[in-house]
Amino acid sequence: MSFVYMKILESRPERYDIGMGLLTLGSLSKIKQQIANHAQPGNQVLDLGCGTGTLAKMCIDRGALVTGVDSNSGMLAVAKRNSPTANYLNISLSNLDEHLEDESFDIILSTLAFSELTRAERIHVMKQIKRVLKNGGKVLIGDEIIPDNFPAKCFYYAFRLPMRLLTWIMTQTTTNAIPSFEEEVREAGMKIVNSKSYMWGMFLLLEIEK
Ligand SMILES: C[S@@+](CC[C@H](N)C(=O)[O-])C[C@H]1O[C@@H](n2cnc3c(N)ncnc32)[C@H](O)[C@@H]1O
Repeated sequence: MSFVYMKILESRPERYDIGMGLLTLGSLSKIKQQIANHAQPGNQVLDLGCGTGTLAKMCIDRGALVTGVDSNSGMLAVAKRNSPTANYLNISLSNLDEHLEDESFDIILSTLAFSELTRAERIHVMKQIKRVLKNGGKVLIGDEIIPDNFPAKCFYYAFRLPMRLLTWIMTQTTTNAIPSFEEEVREAGMKIVNSKSYMWGMFLLLEIEK
């Protein structure tokens, strides 16, 4: 399984959710529901790289107030249809400094968006997360990583490299599986309180606090 194909799906926002459902055999939706289960009624939730707003909708269904950030206006147009009561910001994750107030969110979430950033951007976003998270708040980030164990790593590269080339040909962009996600979180001064891997070690969900 490779998430590189995501970039192709993102250029077709209407088909993104169906495509991701097929690609992950329904796992992504289940992981998102586990993430959304952390949201409590009245919580201020921030979804970074919210895409088509499926995670935002799950949180809103639990009574939370959601702000979704994404730079792809096509994805946001679908999000607004899926979850019209969320507040959406059509900005880059590199510009959170200018748009979000200090200590304004109880929960900050992100799925499959960090792998579209460079390492420097991820560290910058992580520092912004620390700034806008309320004391006692919680961060859940799930994303594509390079698996640790040797057989999974071989399978991953055998599948990923041709997909990466295909994706580049079709979209002139690609994703960057995160080689040392946990190290980056610590570098940004945050604390990992739980970590769980999914999809044969290719997807890591981190629960993080200040
Ligand atoms: C693979 S999609 C994931 C969408 C959604 N979180 C999900 O799990 O279905 C990645 C999303 O991150 C957004 N994204 C990538 N880089 C971004 C950036 N620098 N600023 C804002 N959004 C970004 C893309 O536009 C896209 O909607």
